[in-house]
Amino acid sequence: MLKVLVMHGPNLNLLGRREPEVYGACTLAEIEDSISALAGELGCEVSFFQSNHEGALIDALQASGEFDAVVFNPGAFTHYSIALRDAVASVETPVIEVHLSNIAAREAFRHSSVIAPACAGQISGFGTMSYLVGLRAAVGLAQAAE
Ligand code: DQA
Repeated sequence: MLKVLVMHGPNLNLLGRREPEVYGACTLAEIEDSISALAGELGCEVSFFQSNHEGALIDALQASGEFDAVVFNPGAFTHYSIALRDAVASVETPVIEVHLSNIAAREAFRHSSVIAPACAGQISGFGTMSYLVGLRAAVGLAQAAE
């Protein structure tokens, strides 16, 4: 069975309470429930990891070899963490970057992602659906690589 790791970066543990006008009313647990439900439909196994710490996210990427793909919302690290970008570039596992909000439509400092060039692709602006589209892309990529 295909295995997908879904990773969430800083402050995403506060979803539901954190700027709901930007990020929606769903909690992270509710988003993960939706992802698990789709994983069941797609017949893949999904694991979750959230951290507010750059190093912990790097460690998780370095240890992602057992997974067929990673769906990753790097939060604010998206915009400046060369270390996370290098970690994504260092692993063979394809990584799909996702964002709840449309980062291109927000403040100028959110328009660029230093991580996206090392990723298989980026999905941004669809709320929980960004993760669901990300999971479909992850499964599609993994199947194509089989
Ligand atoms: C985010 C967008 C980032 O700019 C922000 O720092 C986040 C969440 C998103 O999912 O829309 O923490 O990654």
